[in-house]
Amino acid sequence: MLEVHNLTYTYPDGRLALNGVSLRIWPGERVALTGPNGAGKSTLLLALAGILHAEGSILVEGIPLSHASLPRLRARLGLVFQSPEDQLFSPTVFEDVAYAPLYQGLTPAEITARASEALAAVGMQAFAARMPHHLSMGEKKRVAIATVLAMRPAMLLFDEPSAGLDPRARRELIHLLEQLPQTLLIATHDLNLVQHICPRMLILDEGRLVADGKTEHLLADEGLLVAHGLA
Ligand SMILES: Nc1ncnc2c1ncn2[C@@H]1O[C@H](COP(=O)(O)OP(=O)(O)O)[C@@H](O)[C@H]1O
Ligand SMILES: [Mg+2]
Repeated sequence: MLEVHNLTYTYPDGRLALNGVSLRIWPGERVALTGPNGAGKSTLLLALAGILHAEGSILVEGIPLSHASLPRLRARLGLVFQSPEDQLFSPTVFEDVAYAPLYQGLTPAEITARASEALAAVGMQAFAARMPHHLSMGEKKRVAIATVLAMRPAMLLFDEPSAGLDPRARRELIHLLEQLPQTLLIATHDLNLVQHICPRMLILDEGRLVADGKTEHLLADEGLLVAHGLA
């Protein structure tokens, strides 16, 4: 599904945020991307989504990410931002969810079908006419996920999906993530979420991948977790 070779990214101020990251993710896998604050998790997701242009190579379903392939690959690999406010900007929930299909050039009937399907997948059909900015944090997160599902992506990238949620909204989100059939890469500090959803876990620290293995093995290695700010 995804193949990354030697990915390196330096911010314009000189900060090296990714330092030679290589990894492979197979179709249907659910992989956690963990690591301390500032490890480079968000930077990696932004690079995979083609928003930041990193050195090295990224292949999505075998196709190299490039300027030419970006529009097509963006629809295959959807990024759910940490803050739903970065993803929701329309007067109604329906328009936000219909936005990507509209710009994919689909017919009005197809756009409506895509939006309804995406809202149903996150249990938010009844909210189609509501204003996104009046929703609770948990509802906004669901709608933000629907805006990405409406592109019918093969893989979803999540940046800290449980951040800012109360315990009930967090449980509902974990339940929703469990139901998603797509390949998942989830950047998170929430080791409980990782344990529930992701059989495989990556640890990123200072821009380097320092561990990649079975979640049950890595979570049992307290020395490893402490060394990388995760215990
Ligand atoms: N826009 C930016 N400009 C400069 N440095 C940045 C920027 N965004 C993030 N960084 C730095 O890059 C590193 C990785 O950040 P980030 O990818 O946000 O880490 P994480 O998501 O793991 O907390 C950190 O040192 C952070 O301070
Ligand atoms: Mg981050």
